[in-house]
Amino acid sequence: MRIILDTDPGVDDALAIMYLAAQSDAEIVAVGSVHGNVPAPLGALNALRVLELVGLNPPVTVGAARPLAQPLQTAEFVHGDDGLGGHAGDPPTGTVAPGSAAEQIVRLARANPGELTLLALGPLTNVALAVLLEPDLPNLLRSVVVMGGAVTVPGNITPYADANFYHDPEAADLVLGAGFPDLILVGLDATEQARAGSEWLASLAAAEGPRASFANKLLDHYARFYSNMFGEHSCTLHDPLAAAIMLDQKLAGYREMPLSIELNGTHTRGQVVSDLRLISSDAYITTSAGAGRVPVKVVETVDVPTFLDQM
Ligand code: BDR
Ligand code: CA
Repeated sequence: MRIILDTDPGVDDALAIMYLAAQSDAEIVAVGSVHGNVPAPLGALNALRVLELVGLNPPVTVGAARPLAQPLQTAEFVHGDDGLGGHAGDPPTGTVAPGSAAEQIVRLARANPGELTLLALGPLTNVALAVLLEPDLPNLLRSVVVMGGAVTVPGNITPYADANFYHDPEAADLVLGAGFPDLILVGLDATEQARAGSEWLASLAAAEGPRASFANKLLDHYARFYSNMFGEHSCTLHDPLAAAIMLDQKLAGYREMPLSIELNGTHTRGQVVSDLRLISSDAYITTSAGAGRVPVKVVETVDVPTFLDQM
């Protein structure tokens, strides 16, 4: 599978890159950073750092510096000041490629129609900009996998929204309404089922080699944050789960539904609004959530043991 990666590294983003690098059927064609866990320029440097560690050198472009319609908000409290749990280390050897992440998506999709899968692990600003640049993008990509949202479970950054959609609700709404014919949404519904517990963390801590050592350092800060929240030694592997489901769709069970994003709610901005009514979309009131939207495949169930074992 040939992949364009859009990401805000970020500890779990970094782990997703490491996971993909270890899969023989995954080729990361290009990477774009986006604001989110850290500012986009730092995210690009972090992507370069992790890619160099695992011996890959796809082009890495810097993406959107801020959301479409709200000020920048970052999440260093989860991922550390440097986005990599305080273990970013030396600057990368490589430098960022010219152009923006959105332009890179459009250029690659046009040059390889129907061939590339887009894996979006951060706020959807770059993907939304790419749709605005190339309205036919949904038909030029092979498929899209998005980590974001909380469809049937509570949010994380607010009671109703996950961090990726909260950090750019307008972009998320634009992408979910763009008509991608094959879009899988890996939300907190899925990722909260697939927490790495103390046994998994201990087995990683016992593993040897530079990659395991780096992963352990990354997880130190991140797992401490999640362990404090959950009250037990564990953490959620959001972005790696999205990467794993992208490569092996049999890892998950799905339910198709049209989705919109709440943009105006005082307490609910960034919430996923799903339409679970069992009626044909032709019968929707045209102003209702989901009206006229191509259904999205929302991950409902996960083969957690297989995923954690692969990780
Ligand atoms: C998402 O937000 C970020 O903190 C993580 O990297 C993940 O992509 C989870 O809500
Ligand atoms: Ca992320």
